[in-house]
Amino acid sequence: MNSKTLFLSLSLTAALSCHQSRAEGVVTNFTPQNPPEMQPLGKTDSPAFQAMRHLQRGANLGDYLESYPVGKNKVTVSAEDFAAMRREGFDHVRIPVGWQHYAGPGPDFMISPEIFAKADPLVTNSLANGLSVIINIHHFDELDRDPTATTAEFLQIWKQVAEHYKDCPGGLVFELDNEPHQQATTAVMNPIYAQAISLIRESNPRRTIMVEPGKWGGIDELQNLIVPADDNVVVSVHCYNPFLFTHQGASWTHGSTPLTGLVFPGPPSKPYVPDPGLNLPKKTLQWVEEYNTLPTEKNPSGPIAFTSRMKFLHDWQAHYGRPIHLGEFGAYTKGDQQSRANYYSALRHAAEAQGIGWCIWDWNSGFRYWDEKTQQPLPGMREALFGK
Ligand code: BGC
Repeated sequence: MNSKTLFLSLSLTAALSCHQSRAEGVVTNFTPQNPPEMQPLGKTDSPAFQAMRHLQRGANLGDYLESYPVGKNKVTVSAEDFAAMRREGFDHVRIPVGWQHYAGPGPDFMISPEIFAKADPLVTNSLANGLSVIINIHHFDELDRDPTATTAEFLQIWKQVAEHYKDCPGGLVFELDNEPHQQATTAVMNPIYAQAISLIRESNPRRTIMVEPGKWGGIDELQNLIVPADDNVVVSVHCYNPFLFTHQGASWTHGSTPLTGLVFPGPPSKPYVPDPGLNLPKKTLQWVEEYNTLPTEKNPSGPIAFTSRMKFLHDWQAHYGRPIHLGEFGAYTKGDQQSRANYYSALRHAAEAQGIGWCIWDWNSGFRYWDEKTQQPLPGMREALFGK
């Protein structure tokens, strides 16, 4: 069970309403409303913006080092994967890591060399292939449940990871925490991030650092973020809208995305009739009704689900002088491949149109780009992401 599953099982109602409104693509126009402590930096050439020039088109090495034990999800990674990524046109790779599974007891929370031995070659191979590389802390469920009780461990992990990689080239980026949620709200994470950033700065004065807002890196949460006045911090967000399409048939959303056979973009060629046995909430039935009837430009399974969000990112980034990275987006392989390719194409175009660098979920697991069997991208994916 991953963190998304746990959260969804604990607060299904909240999750449903959140996902439904995402699916409808509702987002307000940007007006600056972050707390006053969030000072605009007034720069577009800061070290953070310079780092973003090499973080434009990325792939997540998902379901690998963050799963415990490593290999549980049957994903395999070799040096060849990094060469293939580079050849395909990616410029960076995001490597989720479950450091917390390898941390000993407090107060030192000593990280076992075992996980460094697995992470180091991935970092080295990325850089050797000309890829920038982001490492994070992923699925730190205890932090989401009780951030206050876990802050010391969180900081100790970053102290050790930062010291371990302090001599790496600038192409290595630290992302503090993947998808904080539950008790790890943006307001709770703001001061914890500030502490982690000043701790990391002791050993890595010039490293690019990423922070994610709460509600799973939610775009709607950007307005609650307070980032210290450090000019090498990038803000990372996730976008899986429309969630019913991108997560169709996923087991870890605990019944909130049970419809399969949804296409992108809608409407479908024949009206979609959900199984009456599913007992769908009213909002989902309404979504299906609109999916069946509205033209593509108004369809909830269409670009309307994310285009205004990308514009919001652009405006927020410009106002606050903090670059934004779209650290995860993607569609599960339970959807048909043509629709998946359409989705990846539409969202990456929408992000690029607003000057937002992106990173797909994922390289070779459940949302894959790369087919290990053929050693080729899945049909339509290369064209979708790189137009070739
Ligand atoms: C999670 C994955 C999940 C993906 C899509 C990621 O943040 O780590 O486990 O497959 O989101 O839901």
